[in-house]
Amino acid sequence: MPKREKAVQQSRRMPREQVRVLITGGRIQKRIQALAMEIRKDFPGESLHLVSVLKGGVFFLTDLARNIPGEVSFDFIAVSSYGQKTHSSGQVRLTRDLDSSIEGKTVIVVEDILDTGMTLQYLLRLFEQRKPKHLRVAVLLDKPERRIAAVHADYVGFSIPNEFVVGYGLDYAERYRNLPYVGVLLLGPGLKKKPAED
Ligand code: PRP
Repeated sequence: MPKREKAVQQSRRMPREQVRVLITGGRIQKRIQALAMEIRKDFPGESLHLVSVLKGGVFFLTDLARNIPGEVSFDFIAVSSYGQKTHSSGQVRLTRDLDSSIEGKTVIVVEDILDTGMTLQYLLRLFEQRKPKHLRVAVLLDKPERRIAAVHADYVGFSIPNEFVVGYGLDYAERYRNLPYVGVLLLGPGLKKKPAED
């Protein structure tokens, strides 16, 4: 086989992307079970209304909901960001509102990841105006190093370093959301870590 053809064939076979497991599916599920019990303990006998942010938070919401004993309902909201969320000027805009009112309800905002905090800051301001009975935040992953907005989560699954993570709802160009674990994305022929900031 000519050298050039062989090189092309080899480069085709070389993986361009790889995911290195950071948190296994088993650890995620165990942690969610513990978080669910902690939430129920904080609000015994109350009906809990879980509100998740599309799309990334969906897997966490469904697993959390299944593990909280007692009455649970849920709803979804969608937002998009103008400009770079890596700057404090990043603007968050509502693209899909909740189906029902949260007035008087015990609301748990469920997010896959707390990164700069811009999304959560926007949501908390919006929800506070709607007069819920209680407003709490549950995040599966927390990246404290990246925080811009002064927000915090009441329930945190895992605190992680500043790496670009995918899986369990988190995507790279809409891919990898369906992985049952969380992993670090490696890119390129040398498979280097993708920088966390886009
Ligand atoms: C991710 C995640 C959070 C937000 C957190 O959503 O689901 O909603 O970013 O980042 P922040 O703390 O910097 O605001 P993304 O915008 O990637 O949309 P997606 O859920 O549809 O993937």
